[in-house]
Amino acid sequence: MEEKINALRAALEQDRAGVTNSDQLSAFWQKYLGKTGEVSGLTKALRDVAKEDRPAAGKTINLFKTWVEEQYQALAAEIAKKELEEKNRAEAVDITLPGKKRSQGGLHPITITKNEIVNVFSGMGFEVYEGPEIEDDAHNFTRLNVPKNHPARDMQDTFYVAEDIVLRTQTSPGQIRVMDAQKPPIKVLVPGRVFRSDSDATHSPMFHQMEGLVVDKGITLCDLQGMLDKFVQELFGADVRTRLRPSYFPFTEPSVEIDVSCFECGGKGCSLCKGTGWIEVLGGGVVHHKVLENCGIDPTVYSGIAFGIGIERIAMLKYGINNMGLLFENDLRFLEQFKG
Ligand code: DAH
Repeated sequence: MEEKINALRAALEQDRAGVTNSDQLSAFWQKYLGKTGEVSGLTKALRDVAKEDRPAAGKTINLFKTWVEEQYQALAAEIAKKELEEKNRAEAVDITLPGKKRSQGGLHPITITKNEIVNVFSGMGFEVYEGPEIEDDAHNFTRLNVPKNHPARDMQDTFYVAEDIVLRTQTSPGQIRVMDAQKPPIKVLVPGRVFRSDSDATHSPMFHQMEGLVVDKGITLCDLQGMLDKFVQELFGADVRTRLRPSYFPFTEPSVEIDVSCFECGGKGCSLCKGTGWIEVLGGGVVHHKVLENCGIDPTVYSGIAFGIGIERIAMLKYGINNMGLLFENDLRFLEQFKG
């Protein structure tokens, strides 16, 4: 028995040196400690030992079994440690490597300006309506009091899609759509893209407007000026003033051009206001009675005011942009200045 155990001990030590992973470890366990393994083989062999020698032999086997178990535990700990180290090495992260930067987008200056305008007017109770970009002649012109062959059609170079179908040249057709759909009191803003065959430093064939329309009993030009005063003060500063100049639009009578006192020089005269102290910002007026009639609204009961704001123009003034093209080139170096 003693000899057998010595031989097994030597074999185990040799095997142990060859165990380098958990598969080999479990084979090792099977071989020595499994049900049909070497240690239980020794216990079975006790049968063949002379009766009087059995207690001593049993004790020797038990000591050997304990030793084998200790060997196995130590080996298992070694393998677990080694495998964990390998796993850590494979998954190592070099925290000194530079990070990958994900750049964040921002709103376009036109969107920022549009949102700002909507904010100011929604504070005064205006709702937002959006109409189609492809319009028929009736909405874009005729019902706005611009009949065919009217000289006012020459004020805007129109893109025709088909006969009597145009890319809307203004957001004013939104007025007609709103008045067709709802009856006074009306207080709406119509933001949107408009199109004209026109292109230079301050004109683009596609640009944005914001139409305003208020229709109710007793609305006058004073309401227009009051609302626009509030609007320009929110956008350009508390001390700017407005000035109305007589103008002409077919859908308003009287029509006005609205100027703001120059927020750059305070009205003394500078390059921004071309020495005049005033900057033209938008057009508007009292809604023409024919336009109300064209929408089934009785002009002897109701009156209205309307205005049209060029969003690019406001953005250019606000941010000191001198070339409209910059707003549409989508050069990130330009756009990133408006982030945050
Ligand atoms: N639609 C005009 C344009 O594009 C701007 C405008 C002027 C709109 C006066 C109005 C208005 O509603 O009352 O030039």
